[in-house]
Amino acid sequence: MSLKVAIVGMGGIGNRHAQVYEKRQDAELVAVCDIIQEKADRAAERYKTKAFYSVKELVSSGLQIDAVSVCSAGKENGGDHHLPTMELLEAGYPVLGEKPISNEIAKAREMVALAKRKNLRYGINLNHRFTPAALRAREWVQQGRLGELNIINMTMWINNPNETSPWFHIRALHPHSLDVMRYFADDVAKVHAFFKRGPKKDGPDGRRVCWSNVQANLLFKNGVIGHLTGSYDAGGSYGLETLEVVGSEARFVLRDACEHLEFYPRSSRQVETYSYLGGMMGFNETFDSRIGRWVEQNIQKVKPEEIDASGEDALKVQTIIEAVIESWEKGTVVTL
Ligand SMILES: NC(=O)c1ccc[n+]([C@@H]2O[C@H](COP(=O)([O-])OP(=O)(O)OC[C@H]3O[C@@H](n4cnc5c(N)ncnc54)[C@H](O)[C@@H]3O)[C@@H](O)[C@H]2O)c1
Repeated sequence: MSLKVAIVGMGGIGNRHAQVYEKRQDAELVAVCDIIQEKADRAAERYKTKAFYSVKELVSSGLQIDAVSVCSAGKENGGDHHLPTMELLEAGYPVLGEKPISNEIAKAREMVALAKRKNLRYGINLNHRFTPAALRAREWVQQGRLGELNIINMTMWINNPNETSPWFHIRALHPHSLDVMRYFADDVAKVHAFFKRGPKKDGPDGRRVCWSNVQANLLFKNGVIGHLTGSYDAGGSYGLETLEVVGSEARFVLRDACEHLEFYPRSSRQVETYSYLGGMMGFNETFDSRIGRWVEQNIQKVKPEEIDASGEDALKVQTIIEAVIESWEKGTVVTL
């Protein structure tokens, strides 16, 4: 079977989704949609498919569409997702949304609730966990190779000088880091966070509007303790993320999502190192693996609650993010 897909929002990332679908034998891009007609037309020409200029037109076209990618952006890179996602879910289409699910938690809840009410598959492109290296590390955890988990530390930074709001950095980037942390350590119970605005010559007080650096402590429901270091003022050259998970018997370090995985036993010096597991060479390829998984799960017609990196998972990370913000604003530990 070939999954017939459409994409709403034809910016850089909508085009990235299109390139993934185009390469796959089991997917066919049957429509693209953008409220900017020129973008929809250009994409339709490029991928030899049909152009639409609104979700309403798309859903009333009579075209057979099995699933839709929503790649809009908006405030904090998530402000525009709510409208097209609600329209598509209401019309009965499974949706793979971009992250953050929404920059507003109430809207994220509505989207997840509607997908549930309609019994529709709803996934989010939380692509950082879709790597052979993360899968291998998770197997180690599940097999008990690390013993009991004690600590999980994540550093994720990129050089992003853009400013859209004070909470742009934490809301737009850290769905990724917190999703990977949840993937290994499960749900969060409490958070405590500090932020710092980076310097900017022409900023209001010589600083960025955006709280561009964060340190957050996390207590997971299973007792694991964790820490997130995040920044939009770092990176730029090499090194996007480093994850370290420490158990009673061993620890592992996963560098740059897919590139290097190291296993350090507690009681010996026999370190295991793996590079580019499964042939995945860089972060960009996580679009292929994540979207590929979405296609496969739709073809298999899995139950909505079985979707990997679901809307519900994305809502949970956004809830952690709002607690991180509240902790800084109130100067307290916040219980989720
Ligand atoms: N998963 C990742 O690794 C990753 C990486 C980068 C960006 N992103 C996410 O991808 C998303 C898109 O980013 P981008 O840089 O391509 O944004 P962009 O602004 O370049 O493109 C968004 C497009 O959506 C269109 N649009 C908005 N509302 C619409 C609607 N209701 N109907 C039809 N079209 C609509 C806009 O006209 C625009 O062309 C963002 O949410 C961003 O956070 C994800």
